[in-house]
Amino acid sequence: MASTPDAPAEVQRGLQDIVALESHITFIDGKRGRLLYEGYDIRDLAEHSTFEEVAYLLWYGRLPTAEQLRDLEQRLAQLRALPEPVGRLIDTLPAESNPMDILRTVVSTLPMFEPSETQPSPNSIGGALRLTAAIPTMIGRFQRRRSQLSPLKERPDLSHAKNLLYQITGREGSDLDARAMDVSLILHADHELNASTFAARVTASTLSDLYSSITSAVGTLKGPLHGGANERVMEMIDEIGTVDRAEEVVKAKLARHERIMGFGHRVYKVEDPRATILREWSRRVGESAGNLHAYDVLQKVVEVVHREKGLYPNVDLFSGSVYATLGIPRDLFTPIFAASRVAGWTAHVLEEYRDLRLIRPTARYVGPVDQTYVPLAERTA
Ligand code: ACO
Repeated sequence: MASTPDAPAEVQRGLQDIVALESHITFIDGKRGRLLYEGYDIRDLAEHSTFEEVAYLLWYGRLPTAEQLRDLEQRLAQLRALPEPVGRLIDTLPAESNPMDILRTVVSTLPMFEPSETQPSPNSIGGALRLTAAIPTMIGRFQRRRSQLSPLKERPDLSHAKNLLYQITGREGSDLDARAMDVSLILHADHELNASTFAARVTASTLSDLYSSITSAVGTLKGPLHGGANERVMEMIDEIGTVDRAEEVVKAKLARHERIMGFGHRVYKVEDPRATILREWSRRVGESAGNLHAYDVLQKVVEVVHREKGLYPNVDLFSGSVYATLGIPRDLFTPIFAASRVAGWTAHVLEEYRDLRLIRPTARYVGPVDQTYVPLAERTA
């Protein structure tokens, strides 16, 4: 007779509500819609700080002094260039590739070509700085390559946000555009144990290296239920066409049990505070560009989805409309997310190294037991 294997009674699908570890970095209050990095409210950081300042906060656990911030900005600016073979690799990968596949490949390749005597120790804040500085260059190099343009020269005089915009569009952009990008980078920099950060920590918990951990994270961020949703939001805006069609299109999607991209969240039960801030930036850049179409359509979608389904917007709803207005191609939205989240990923990996415990949950076995082995020659289909 078959015996039932011992198994934990309850399965928390998707690890929902499971507290897997202690972290000092980010606090999400899903009921009140608050997000804190090291205790600082995201709204204050989005109002007053820069991405570089937030990255320092995540890595060192405290806000920098003016001198510490200047030093970090300079170090990041000096670490932007790719090793020559890595640049060449980007130029030889298929131009029609998904940019997240390019990013995943190039992030994993970078340490192989770093001259060890000049590069910071990889499993340290030095490695975090290197990856954070280099990712915009990787994205920009691929964008130039597929547009049949030669690579851009380094611009160490530009801030992280301005450099990212410059690498992608070939233009510095206005101060308003650069600030919109900077705020978006701040808002995406960390979000507790989201899927990609968890993936990074799982990899790090085996004592694997920082670059392998971030490679895992990039692959995880690629999925449309995580980083890819803002691109789908733009497709929905196209499908809707004009504001007066928003209600009909959204209701039809809901009737077909389709998910409306940019809505819902595992942790937030109210509006995601990042969505609130990006909604305002979507309006500001739209007004400055004289085009509020995406903003107006999304406002209507928010109204319909809330009325029909009681769901609130998440960070992905308005980020795409901000990026599109800044002239960024849609398939680079998720790589931009990575260019910001790398600060949080690396902070979490370093935290994992400091308090390491192999992450290895268990599964409840629901398959057969005590099967009789039939030799290959005797098996039938
Ligand atoms: N549109 C329509 N219905 C939704 C949506 C949505 N966007 N989100 C959740 N629901 C519904 C589900 O259908 C389900 O309804 P049911 O109980 O009637 O079956 C209920 O709400 C609960 O949904 P779950 O999938 O159990 O919630 P979960 O916590 O797993 O989902 C997720 C979170 C994956 C983000 C989900 O809300 C979703 O798919 N949203 C759309 C994709 C998206 O915007 N992703 C970006 C997330 S933010 C980020 O990663 C940066």
